[in-house]
Amino acid sequence: MRAFLSSKTSKALIFILCLVPLAGIAWPFLAHSVIPDPLALIQHGTGDWTLRFLVITLCITPLRQILHLTELIRFRRMLGLYAFFYGCLHFTTYLWFDKLFDLYEIWKDVYKRPFITVGFLAFTLLIPLAITSTAGWIRRLGGRRWRILHRAIYISAVCGVVHYYWQVKSAVIRPLVYCFLVGLLLAWRLGSWLLRRSRTNQVPAAVHTN
Ligand code: HEM
Repeated sequence: MRAFLSSKTSKALIFILCLVPLAGIAWPFLAHSVIPDPLALIQHGTGDWTLRFLVITLCITPLRQILHLTELIRFRRMLGLYAFFYGCLHFTTYLWFDKLFDLYEIWKDVYKRPFITVGFLAFTLLIPLAITSTAGWIRRLGGRRWRILHRAIYISAVCGVVHYYWQVKSAVIRPLVYCFLVGLLLAWRLGSWLLRRSRTNQVPAAVHTN
């Protein structure tokens, strides 16, 4: 398992697997199927997958800790970049097919419709994370500052869930499932942080009593 996760094959396989949702969204168009609402199909498909990839990216750290599989970290950057990729497609669909690049209409929407405002925030937060995801940027910013910056993914995921919840009319189950998952993943991080902090506080106290 470890050997497979460390191999180039696993990375290539996951890279290809992450493109399957895109093929799923494009297929009805390529197959010339009758699509009642093409805009909704692309908008919902890309929106769903942006949120799913954000959740999958956030799962890497807890899974690595629970399963003791440090190799999983190799896939985190790629999965995060896929969240950004599907986010770009989702945003472009909105800009192009929904608003025809009418900047005034877009501004009015961002200003007046709260679900668009939070969606916009969720996407904007991902931009610096995608740019600084390279080894060069980690070096330039320093590990500590880079880690602080990349905590913006938590805010982006929360905004993504709120964006989803606010735009559904009655079918709230799915946004609530995402709300539960994101809540659980953030609670895990808070728990680990509190545990680490209590351990580091205990060490000097133990040294002191000795
Ligand atoms: C990280 C950023 C974002 C995430 C995670 C996200 C996620 C989602 C999700 C899950 C849906 C619902 C899909 C469904 O019903 O199955 C959705 C729909 C939608 N999103 Fe986003 N979104 C993001 C950013 C944006 C941005 C920046 C805009 C535009 C400024 C936007 C505009 C829309 C619109 C117009 C819909 C369809 C609403 C409808 O059909 O009534 N989203 N998004």
